[in-house]
Amino acid sequence: MPNPREILNELKNIKYPGFSRDIVSFGMIKDIEVADAGVSVILIAPAASPEVINEIAGEIRRTVAAMPGAPAVNLQIEQAPPPHVAQTPARRPIPGVKHIIAVASGKGGVGKSTVAVNLTLAMRALGWRVGLMDADVYGPSVAMMVGAQERAGLTAERRILPLERFGIRYISMAMFIADDTPIIWRGPMVAKLESEFLFNVEWGELDCLALDLPPGTGDAQLTITQRVALDGGVIVTTPQEIALLDVKRGVAMFKEVAVPVLGVIENMSYHLCGKCGRRHEIFAHGGGQRFAQSLGVPFLGELPITRELREGGDRARPIVAVHPDHPVSDAFKAVAANVIAQLTRGARTAD
Ligand SMILES: Nc1ncnc2c1ncn2[C@@H]1O[C@H](COP(=O)(O)OP(=O)(O)OP(=O)(O)O)[C@@H](O)[C@H]1O
Ligand SMILES: [Mg+2]
Repeated sequence: MPNPREILNELKNIKYPGFSRDIVSFGMIKDIEVADAGVSVILIAPAASPEVINEIAGEIRRTVAAMPGAPAVNLQIEQAPPPHVAQTPARRPIPGVKHIIAVASGKGGVGKSTVAVNLTLAMRALGWRVGLMDADVYGPSVAMMVGAQERAGLTAERRILPLERFGIRYISMAMFIADDTPIIWRGPMVAKLESEFLFNVEWGELDCLALDLPPGTGDAQLTITQRVALDGGVIVTTPQEIALLDVKRGVAMFKEVAVPVLGVIENMSYHLCGKCGRRHEIFAHGGGQRFAQSLGVPFLGELPITRELREGGDRARPIVAVHPDHPVSDAFKAVAANVIAQLTRGARTAD
């Protein structure tokens, strides 16, 4: 029968899925006991998807069972302590930045980047100093939407200078990943680099930095939410049932890492006619609000589907910046005011 030290050494060969580090150095093995009946291992499960934990558990069982004496394995999985405890050391604030929010969506194509761009512009219109970071390296569309496709500069201390567009400071991870980097490498690179990268940007004084997360709720998203001192997450959805179901996954993701959900935004909620200026209900509208209520998270507002919003994105003329008095811009400002209210309420409770 192997001893606990030998077993621990073997377990060092198990990498955390998607990372080059092993599960032992991540501090996931709490205890190993060897008795006549076999080997007991206590695994600390961090905030990760159940599939990841299952994969690791399977590796542990196989690894131990393959050791001399083929010991029976009794694996106990313990949940990591509540993230409030972990929050302070693991999550770093960004000096000079008062609030950090993540804009997320359970599924792609719901208009998350469009909303992130115009929402930050609306916050700016309400007097906040804002920054926007495009964290989506698979489809970095924000650069096109704000017309910022050149490279960022560096300060004398080799810190990254964000670009400035329409009064918001903007940076994209994609600026720093070579175009020929194979797409499959981008995810893992980002998961590791992103949070470090964020801290190397010379943001200056900001009231709020928004991160446009890649769509979905996978490990790349989780890594950022665990490393950056986020004030909260904003979830963008559309009224379709299928998108609404994904809101649940978004809420679950933020809950898992104990980041408050600031609320849900329903995009493409109704049609705003460019000609008559009237509102047409084209989908079963209102699902976002009902859904948010049933999940116990705030509803931040609804945004229309309109041709101008799409064209503004395609032509690097975001509607909130270019037509600040347009009804769509008003809708964004209403949502921005709700986001600001959520953020400042959070700040008061923290005091
Ligand atoms: N409210 C809206 N009205 C009209 N068009 C919209 C609206 N919101 C988004 N779009 C359009 O829908 C398309 C997808 O939007 P966007 O790129 O913002 O979505 P996304 O959720 O960020 O997508 P991805 O998952 O690829 O990152 C774009 O062409 C955009 O212009
Ligand atoms: Mg996007």
